[in-house]
Amino acid sequence: MSGRVAGKKVLVTGAAQGLGAATAHRLAAEGARILLTDINGDGAAAQAALINDALGAGTAFAVRHDVTRADHWAEAVELAAEALGGLSVLVNNAGIGIRGNIETCSFDDWKRGFAVNVDSVFLGCQAAIPLMKDHQPGSIVNISSIAGLIASDTMPAYNASKAAVWMLTKSVALHCAKQGWDLRCNSVHPTFVDTPILDGIAASSGREKSVVMGKLARQIPLGRVGEPDDIANGVLYLASDESRFMTGAELKLDGGISAM
Ligand SMILES: NC(=O)c1ccc[n+]([C@@H]2O[C@H](COP(=O)([O-])OP(=O)(O)OC[C@H]3O[C@@H](n4cnc5c(N)ncnc54)[C@H](O)[C@@H]3O)[C@@H](O)[C@H]2O)c1
Repeated sequence: MSGRVAGKKVLVTGAAQGLGAATAHRLAAEGARILLTDINGDGAAAQAALINDALGAGTAFAVRHDVTRADHWAEAVELAAEALGGLSVLVNNAGIGIRGNIETCSFDDWKRGFAVNVDSVFLGCQAAIPLMKDHQPGSIVNISSIAGLIASDTMPAYNASKAAVWMLTKSVALHCAKQGWDLRCNSVHPTFVDTPILDGIAASSGREKSVVMGKLARQIPLGRVGEPDDIANGVLYLASDESRFMTGAELKLDGGISAM
């Protein structure tokens, strides 16, 4: 087996589409074996089948997994142990947008958003670390957002949830380091990336997606919205041993937006 993450045993959440699917394909192409999980179990299975068709049976596995549920996490980690023979990389990717400004965002939406975006990372780290510490070197990659570092008047709940992921990442990283484990934890902060999550933004604005994409691109110094592989390549670096001295850090993949 060869590749930048050859032999790594990886679990990616929210892997039925978008950044999670792109990450699973990218890591598999670089030699990892992957458990793709998603609340959309059929979607995760379809992505795993594509990977196995391309790279050989037994490269990818899939399971339906709601990241807000501790019992589902326990099952997913157990499946990783069985199917992959352990776990060395956890990519906490599943997440949702949360609509509304501070006056219009409902408390139910706030709580649902925090459950999917933040509880998921807490539960995932707690469930995975006992197995990961037996498969060092290891890496946890938490998908936050540039919105976790830069606020907007239109997304207080999303801003706050992604900021929580950013800081939770640092605490997990310090804990693992203090135990003397070669188990790193970093966060990734993308700006707008062309995935189905942007369809929701376009739909709520009532405009064509191409118009919305153009408007978003004009806000980004590099002049374009990101492609899923722009982010998957960053996750690949953090998952690989190339980043072995990097922990508790944030990787901003934002086309320069946070430099302004
Ligand atoms: N696309 C962007 O512009 C962008 C920018 C910054 C950060 N992000 C973050 O990247 C991550 C992936 O986003 P994406 O653009 O691929 O979104 P997406 O909507 O295309 O995919 C998200 C996936 O998560 C799954 N999911 C939702 N709730 C779940 C749950 N409770 N349990 C398990 N799976 C669940 C969905 O079924 C879906 O497959 C999210 O955390 C998102 O906040 C995205």
